[in-house]
Amino acid sequence: MKTYLRILSFAKPYHRYFPQYVLFALFAILFSLVNLALIEPLFTVIFETKTPEELGAMAKVSEGSSTLSSIKALFYQKLIDVRDTYGKSSVLIYVSLVVAISAFLSNLFTYLSNVIIGYMRSDLINKLRNKVFHSATRLHLGFFAGERKGDIISRMTNDVQEIEVTLVSSVKVLFREPATIIVYLVFLFATSVELTLFTLVFFPVMATLISEVVKRLKKKAVLSQESLGRIVNLMDEVFGGMRIIKAFNASNYVNDIFEEETHRYKKISMSMARKNELASPFSQFLGILVVATLLVVGGKLVLGESAGLEAEALFTYIIVFSQVLNPAKSLSQSISNIQRGLASAERIFKIIDEKPAITNAENAKPLKGFTHEIRFESVGFQYDKTPVLEDINLSITKGQTVALVGSSGAGKSTLADLLPRFQDVTTGTITIDGVPIKSIDITSLRHHMGIVAQESILFNDTIAKNIAFAMPNAKIEDIIAAAKIANAHEFILSFEDGYDTFVGERGSKLSGGQRQRISIARAIMKNPPILILDEATSALDTESEKLVQDALSKLMKSRTSLVIAHRLSTVQHADCIVVMDKGQIVEKGTHSELIGKKGVYHKLTHMQSL
Ligand SMILES: Nc1ncnc2c1ncn2[C@@H]1O[C@H](COP(=O)(O)OP(=O)(O)OP(=O)(O)O)[C@@H](O)[C@H]1O
Ligand SMILES: [Mg+2]
Repeated sequence: MKTYLRILSFAKPYHRYFPQYVLFALFAILFSLVNLALIEPLFTVIFETKTPEELGAMAKVSEGSSTLSSIKALFYQKLIDVRDTYGKSSVLIYVSLVVAISAFLSNLFTYLSNVIIGYMRSDLINKLRNKVFHSATRLHLGFFAGERKGDIISRMTNDVQEIEVTLVSSVKVLFREPATIIVYLVFLFATSVELTLFTLVFFPVMATLISEVVKRLKKKAVLSQESLGRIVNLMDEVFGGMRIIKAFNASNYVNDIFEEETHRYKKISMSMARKNELASPFSQFLGILVVATLLVVGGKLVLGESAGLEAEALFTYIIVFSQVLNPAKSLSQSISNIQRGLASAERIFKIIDEKPAITNAENAKPLKGFTHEIRFESVGFQYDKTPVLEDINLSITKGQTVALVGSSGAGKSTLADLLPRFQDVTTGTITIDGVPIKSIDITSLRHHMGIVAQESILFNDTIAKNIAFAMPNAKIEDIIAAAKIANAHEFILSFEDGYDTFVGERGSKLSGGQRQRISIARAIMKNPPILILDEATSALDTESEKLVQDALSKLMKSRTSLVIAHRLSTVQHADCIVVMDKGQIVEKGTHSELIGKKGVYHKLTHMQSL
């Protein structure tokens, strides 16, 4: 219930939808009842089942009678009037006209109320989808590692859709059908209290039986959405890694994995179908049972001595009663749908409620500028159990270039991730000008940093937009200047559309080196005081690397940089070279100092034959 209300709360402000909806729906119900209620008087007046005296009594509006019976009496008056003045066939025409008009009005109001629900649904889903997306983008990087991505995408597509077709559509049913049932029941009571009391016993019995069936559906719904998440994940991975799949003749392999998952999904769906589809025939059958019983009991009342019920009234009664069964059925159907929708809603709220692991401290201050020094003090870090970094002590003075070198997996990228707080240190502190970065506002911290990551990440947009990423007001001259420094200008101009060339998904239309140069241009464009370059030139040929390196050196002169490189030639001129191994700093110094030491660095340079 809480989950349901929370979903509905996305439709706020309610007054935009609900009052109109309730009004329209009520009108629709009333006019549809009028249609059915006309049957009895029509029979009575046309087929003359009553003596004129009896009829006269029925057409009299007596004091203190209920509104319903007064309306009925007035209608009788009118019908008798028409019959006496114009004849019986006119009564038929008259009644048919009333039926036509009320049917028209009933459908018109149904339409209007459905449109309002449609509006509400679109609005609600729009807000919900945006909310999940915003919640997801605010989460820490670690959240998206591993299997999570496909799962999140699946939640944002399938689960949101599930909510749309089940929960939100149920609003219609949840108000309208009970209202219909109540209005019809009032009518039924007015016709025969005895019969109605009798039938009322059947409703709870029926409802309990049906709800037993749907109760078991919820868990299966969770399983099916999870399976769908894995399917999306697999598709994402496979279509992204098509080259490798072809190269390793792995089509059959991934097809098998895919089929295994879709088979699992099929199994779950089938089992859901068995239970889901049971509700409708089940209730239909029970409905007929009730009607049959009604015929027996009602027929006895008609035939019996006490004459508790007229034949026409029983006829109308059964027709109206069978109409009550329909809303009761769609209500039960909708309740089983809601179970599925709620499972989806809970998955969505898991993302919305997920707390980002890396957040601003309570009294976080913005970083006004960087003037002096970045310090790592006994920094340790671990992803899970095994430590990735241990006892890192490092000082980077403003204007310096510090290079991180060392074997693969030594923890260089991890160390670089700590500075913009993509991860938080497990032990120790990192300070900027003496202020721990944990007490600095994250946005302002990252604002001071330009980052070229180990993998170039481009978005499916134009080159210009990728360079001026998240800067909608960037000037094209600035973009070109940045591209020139990154040695990218030339190749960009060689494309037909130049800076307006679309790079394809994840930049797939560009070469690795081109992607890298765009990433560098992006960091340059941001013009930050601190640069973090993780293997920024690794994908370039020696000549472009030299060009880009020269440009970067110029750029780094006025800045503070943390540079990670495997090719030691690119970091020879760094102010300090830090050699890392197995998460620890093993050597520190300038190129010549380290060569003189004849330690790890010396061995490494030797192997790269410098
Ligand atoms: N998201 C992660 N979860 C768990 N462990 C991780 C994660 N990312 C990296 N690691 C582990 O942390 C260690 C250091 O990884 P890191 O990426 O920092 O190495 P690196 O020095 O940058 O290596 P390379 O030169 O190959 O880029 C590795 O042993 C790696 O297995
Ligand atoms: Mg790395």
